Amino acid sequence: MARHLITSALPYINGIKHLGNMVGSMLPADVYSRYLRQRGHDVLYICATDEHGTPAELAAKELGLPVDEFCAQAHDAQKAVYDGFALAFDYFGRSSSEQNVEITQHFARKLKENGFIEERAIRQVYSPTDGRFLPDRYVEGTCPHCGYDKARGDQCENCTRVLDPTDLIEPRSAISGSTDLEVRETKHLFLLQSKLQHEVEAWVAAHEHQWPQLASSIARKWLTEGLHDRAITRDLDWGVPVPADTWPELAAEGKVFYVWFDAPIEYIGATKEWSDQDPENRDWKSWWFDVDTDVRYTEFMAKDNVPFHTVMFPATELGVREPWKKVDVVKAFNWLTYYGGKFSTSQKRGVFTDQALEVLPADYWRYFLIANAPESDDSSFTWEHFTATVNKDLADTLGNFVNRVLSFSRKRFGDAVPAGAAAGEAEAKLGEEIARLLAEYEEHMEALQFRKAAAALRALWSAGNSYLEEKAPWLEIKTDQEAAALTLRTAMNLIHLYAVVSEPFIPTSSAAMRGAFALENDTATWVTPEQARYLTSIPAGTPFTVPPVLFAKLTDDDLDTYKERFGGEAA
Ligand code: MF3
Ligand code: ZN
Repeated sequence: MARHLITSALPYINGIKHLGNMVGSMLPADVYSRYLRQRGHDVLYICATDEHGTPAELAAKELGLPVDEFCAQAHDAQKAVYDGFALAFDYFGRSSSEQNVEITQHFARKLKENGFIEERAIRQVYSPTDGRFLPDRYVEGTCPHCGYDKARGDQCENCTRVLDPTDLIEPRSAISGSTDLEVRETKHLFLLQSKLQHEVEAWVAAHEHQWPQLASSIARKWLTEGLHDRAITRDLDWGVPVPADTWPELAAEGKVFYVWFDAPIEYIGATKEWSDQDPENRDWKSWWFDVDTDVRYTEFMAKDNVPFHTVMFPATELGVREPWKKVDVVKAFNWLTYYGGKFSTSQKRGVFTDQALEVLPADYWRYFLIANAPESDDSSFTWEHFTATVNKDLADTLGNFVNRVLSFSRKRFGDAVPAGAAAGEAEAKLGEEIARLLAEYEEHMEALQFRKAAAALRALWSAGNSYLEEKAPWLEIKTDQEAAALTLRTAMNLIHLYAVVSEPFIPTSSAAMRGAFALENDTATWVTPEQARYLTSIPAGTPFTVPPVLFAKLTDDDLDTYKERFGGEAA
């Protein structure tokens, strides 16, 4: 048994996330956490809303709400959707928590003590029209690298390069559109990342062998470009305040930390939120402090977040000069596209997570998304692909197998698992195959290869279908009751096995499958390949019920309805 700390990139507070966000962070983290828990590990899966910064301020403004009220509401709204997706966080926190304020300020004080934060006067964009300094994101213009004309002052959405607002060509205020912008002098805190370059390089070199190539190549590229000192404070009302004991002047001016400074620290902050709810039994520091090899820490994120997690946050943690846990494995994802184009929150293109649940239950989405996760490349969501996958894998291969076996057995042998003949050659062959596929499934899960894990799971389901077709109990029954009963008992054992091993992907349907059998003592959380080989966890005589159809088959009319509602064409 090992201790696994798992985090997924903290979703921004401003608005419900789309399926692309879901598949690139929270969902695979949940699948992995569930798998590890089932294997008996001590797992802590932490996530939170990322609440500071200009996106929150802008979204609140749009709704005419005070920003703290907006965040409280938006947090609950996101949490409700994640509950709907059956994401089993151990804790879902808020980066605006007092715990995060405390730890963020502690980090900043330590960085200063160690010579990694200094005050610098900078020239910053000021908008007389708006009567304020403009944070980076409030300045828009043309990207100097790729020419994209809606680049924001912090990052270009198009080429993903991190920018400074003064890099932009033809800058304008995102609030008023005013091009009457001035540059004025003001003081900010700078994180002296350049001083940490060599240390971060050494740290990346020592750890990248555990990362997928996507993550290490992004980290390398970033390091080659060189770590630059960066301003980590902003002129905003909403954020973690610069601590007055350490920087009285800046605190008096109301400066707060930049959202990307406090957001990753919230991984720790949220763990403390969790721990503070039950301090007798939970110890946040046992997950984060001085636990170098006791805890294995895996982070999930989309590729745009990789630089912050592989370079910038580690730099911060290194500069603090205290033994905070650093990431072991970075699992990064490419983009899920919508008909080959971008999912876009701002342009409301694609499928949002709340809408997805209005259309179909979570398990349909969970399975489809993970089976098509953008791991080695971008992958495209289309309704055609989605409905075809649901019909083939979930409705035909799995759902139909379950219902067919249970209803047929009930009709012929009543509502307990029939005994029948002793297992023969076909069962031995099936057992071999199941054991082999299950071992494959475990191997891919452990390697965080989700598409491959899904393929192995699908192959397990198919193996049951092939067995059933081959034995054809509906024919056997005419000549040999005992033989038919053996086939059905074996198939029912497969159903129980499927319930156990499919749980990380489709927890609700798995519970329904497992609940079909009134087993005396059904506490096992996993079945090993060696156990699976014998297919004997459901003994003859076990009472069972036939669950309602697990997965509805989607029709052409359904497909048309979805396409009509969401648009089914490339942009
Ligand atoms: N909110 C960011 C995004 O959606 C991710 C923050 S991850 C964290 O891209 F590490 F900073 F927390
Ligand atoms: Zn660009």
